[in-house]
Amino acid sequence: MAAHPRTAVYPGTFDPLTNGHVDIIERGLGLFDRIIVAILLNSGKQPLFDVGERVSIIREVFASQPVVEVETFEGLLVDYVHRRHATVIVRGLRTVSDFDYERQMALMNRHLRSDIETVFMMPSEQYAYVSSTLIKDIAALGGSLAGLVPPVVETRLARRREAATTRRV
Ligand code: PNS
Repeated sequence: MAAHPRTAVYPGTFDPLTNGHVDIIERGLGLFDRIIVAILLNSGKQPLFDVGERVSIIREVFASQPVVEVETFEGLLVDYVHRRHATVIVRGLRTVSDFDYERQMALMNRHLRSDIETVFMMPSEQYAYVSSTLIKDIAALGGSLAGLVPPVVETRLARRREAATTRRV
């Protein structure tokens, strides 16, 4: 590792982690010495998995890679990135429709702190259509998630579906 390790922050909701996220993190490790996966607390969205569960899922998936750290943050992303002595935010770009939102966020973050740069990375084509929202929909309707999410996520989603089904009968 270099004397000044390059740290990138990969922020998001991760409700839940998908193989698209995993792909971005793995690609990011080719560019950075350390990646902090930063889960936003109190996003205003009603999450399926509470934040503790999201943290433990990501830690489990990257258990063999200590250069991937998982934390939570509150408040402005750029302030958090600065506190962690990082200068790079990593975001995944899947589709043209992601672009407008991502561009606006990147430029606003640059306005707030010009010393922090956003780096966009494209996931592998096979994950270009994968989103946490679609994953939750498919899981709720009993569809197969094989190859779309890490096995730990598949198991936890199946467990939730079983619990919901049991409650209904
Ligand atoms: O996975 P998501 O929901 O697309 O992630 C969005 C996230 C967490 C990156 C964004 O909402 C964020 O950075 N929130 C923190 C508050 C903040 O800094 N807002 C100004 C961003 S321009």
